[in-house]
Parts: sequence; structure tokens; C-alpha cells
Amino acid sequence: MSAMPLLAALDRLIQDKPYLMQTPGHKMGRGAPEDLLARFGRATLCYDMCEGQELDDLHNPQGALAEAQAMLATHYGADASFFLVNGSTAGVQALLCTACGPKDALVLPRLAHRSAVSGLITAGARPVWAPIKWSCGWGLPLGMDVTATIDVLRSSRARAVLATNPSYWGGICDLSRLAVVCQDMNSTLIVDEAWGGHLHLLPDYASRTALAVGAAGCVQSAHKTLGALNQAAWLHSTGRLPLEELQEWLRIFQSSSPSYLLLASLDAARAQLASHGHALLKRAAALAQEIARTVANWPGFRVMDRADAQNEGIADLDPCRLVISALDGGWSGWKLASELLSAGVRCELAGPGSVLLLITMADDESILPKITPLFQRLSRRLESGEPDEHLSLARSLCLSPPPMPEVVMAPREAFLADASPCRLSQAAGKVSASLVAPMPPGLPLLCPGELITDDVIDYLARCGCQGEIRVLTGDGIVD
Ligand SMILES: Cc1ncc(COP(=O)(O)O)c(C=O)c1O
Repeated sequence: MSAMPLLAALDRLIQDKPYLMQTPGHKMGRGAPEDLLARFGRATLCYDMCEGQELDDLHNPQGALAEAQAMLATHYGADASFFLVNGSTAGVQALLCTACGPKDALVLPRLAHRSAVSGLITAGARPVWAPIKWSCGWGLPLGMDVTATIDVLRSSRARAVLATNPSYWGGICDLSRLAVVCQDMNSTLIVDEAWGGHLHLLPDYASRTALAVGAAGCVQSAHKTLGALNQAAWLHSTGRLPLEELQEWLRIFQSSSPSYLLLASLDAARAQLASHGHALLKRAAALAQEIARTVANWPGFRVMDRADAQNEGIADLDPCRLVISALDGGWSGWKLASELLSAGVRCELAGPGSVLLLITMADDESILPKITPLFQRLSRRLESGEPDEHLSLARSLCLSPPPMPEVVMAPREAFLADASPCRLSQAAGKVSASLVAPMPPGLPLLCPGELITDDVIDYLARCGCQGEIRVLTGDGIVD
């Protein structure tokens, strides 16, 4: 196993049995609530330490953390890498604020995560939204539309581009084409690769990653597709980003009391990748393909493959993601997800037309005897014509990509302006002060500074968003 400098530093400290006169207040579990201790165990709580001395300092690493981060950078081929204890959320914000200043234009796809909108608010930058590839056949935002993004970049001459690749649903765009244009136009390419931390070890996909195509920086949620604890992520940067400034932004977005459980899990996740990543990911991808073949054979189901993705105009599909639709058999993605849940299987995501299942390094062939007969049983119910009461709403949502409202004000300006709650149904003609990004579809439907129209209100209502949103008052109202 590859060395784990941070975990080793924690081990040494715990073996020394120090008497803690410092935080955290539970002091290696002694003062933890009994109910927590009984579940987590003293051994785990001992690792919940605070920064300082041999455990280093996340915001100014010189020892074990610096070493662990350097090993991470070497593994991915980055110039510098940083552990994140507030998920890719903090990393996207830090990258965006480093790449863009107030009033700078940033091109980003209309499937960017909400952290990109928070980044825009903090930076004061102006979004130039690029349309995406929406799949009507599967009812989901499949991925970035690179041609449209390049057009938007050429006409806006934006300072930077934030790509989201892969998408949540696993669509992988031709990032290298975008990277070349960004370079020609002297625009900084940063990438939200929250869902792509595993791709560099899959031979067919390694050349499609942000670092491989020469992006200035990217973030990856090590807790999503790798083995780190929930919320743990990392950020990679290259010489194209000003390092000091990036670190300043990370200090702003990250806690001054980072969790060593999360940090140690990042150290171990990197070591796991370095030692066994190739084999484990090869197994995960092969398993996903086997499940895909089996499920696609049962009547009523479709499983997206690379060719389907390419027909939709997307370069590729993450081989560890299973996008399954039962629309042909008469069930929405919501109904399929609820049937899977009744059988004890929790999906990553359910849209109107499809569900998303993740296969990771955790999975092996032992799941086949559960999954295969389950889909066979569901297929029989589909064939028997069992109805789904939400099918017509689902079909209509599949066929309608979300509208892209007009940006009339920078998100920061709108977010900070005087605003008051307004019933959605009465909000036409007003400017939103809020971000509305329900899950699914999991993309921004309305951002601060966007004009609310009847189209948007209707779409939000069909997604189940009712009630009130904050809209600008006084001078902020656009007639
Ligand atoms: C595309 C994308 N970017 C960023 C994030 C935020 O990641 P994290 O949960 O690690 O903060 C998510 C979360 O789902 C995401 O889907």
C-alpha cells in the first residue's frame, strides 16, 4: 500500500496517548455522547483530532498535510493539489473566484452545480450561460454542448470558462476541443469534475480529464466516485492559476477547524487509488457493463450506452454510471426509483425519464444475484401493464428542456439588492433574488438576477416548485 503520511501522523499521536487540553471537546471520545460512542466506537473518535503540531495546518501546510497533498498532486499529475473539507462546493467557489473578478464574464453550462452560482455571487462575476445537451428520449440533462459553449465564448470573449464534466448523469463532453479554444482566446478553463475523480485510471477515459486536456484547475469529489468520507474532496491546480490567490480563497471557503476524519480519509483514498485503483476501477466498470447488458435484455427497460450518448451529441459516457429508463414499458424514472427503493435499492438520482445508479470500487459480483432477479421481476410487472399515475407529467417533462431565463443583472447585485418574498404564480416580470435548483433536474432553473417569465413559472410548477421566492423590490423590478 502507498504511504499515508497524514494517517501515519494521526496513528503516532494516538499511540502516544496524549492528555488533550484542547478541542475537540469530546477529547478522543471520552466526553462524547454515549449514543454516539456506542455507534462510532472510541477507535474512530480518536481520529477526530484538531489541527496543530504534528498534525499540521490545512491553511498553511508544512508537514504531514503538505506531504499528503504533494503525493496527491503527483498521482494526478497536477502542479499542486489541496484537500477540501467542504466538498467540491468549496473548490468550485475557490476556483471561480480565482479565475474571475468583479464584472468579469464567465461562460458556464446551464447544468452547473449551485456552488457555481454561489461562486458568481461571491466573485461578482457576470454569467454567460451556454445551452446544454438535453436528452428528450431519456428525460435528463446529459452533458455540456461543447459547440454551443465555444460559440458563447467566442461572442462573449469571457475571461474564463467553468466546465461541468462529467455531468451528474455521466455524460462526458469533448473537453479537449473546448480547452484548445480557451487557450487560443486566452480564457482560463476551470473544471467542475466533481463526478470524475476516477476517470484518469480508466484507460479509455484518461485522455478526457481536465488535467489531461490542460485545464488550469479542477475539483473532484473524492467522496462521490472514490473511497473518501462524505464531504471530502480535492482540488488540483496547474501553473495557469495564481497559487497564492487560490490559497487565499480556499482559506475563505474552508473551516478553520477541518475534520481530520475527512482529511485522513482523503489521504487514504489517494493511497487506495495509487495502490489498487486500476484493478478496482476496472472491476467496477466491467460490473456496470454486465449489469447494463442484463437489464437491457429485460423487456420494458433501456440502459444508456456509449452509442446512445454519442447519438445525443455527447462524446462519451462514464462506464461506472448506469442510466436506466423504463419509459418504454410505461413507468417514469420516479416510479422506477420508488419500486427499487421498495426492494431495498436506493438510486443516486431519479428524473422523469430515467434513474441513475452508481457502481464504484465498493461493488463486486456479489450484487448480481440481488440486482438481476429484481429487474427481471420489475420487467414482468412492466409487461403486465402496471400503470404509473405520473407518466404523462413525466413524458411532458422529458420533452421539455428547462427554459434559460434572460440575465438582467449580475447575480451578486441581485442577491444583495432589496428583495421580498413573492408567490411564484405572481412573479412574472420580476427579477429573482434567489437560486432555484430543485433536484431533479439538479440544475439551476432560476438564478439571482434572472427575469421571471410565464415559461419559467410553468416549468417550476411542473417540477413541483410552488410557494414563494424572493424577488427584487423597488428599483430592481423590470417592467
Ligand atoms: C456537478 C457537481 N459539482 C459540484 C458538486 C458539489 O460537490 P460536493 O457535494 O462535494 O460539495 C456536486 C454535488 O452533487 C455536483 O453534482
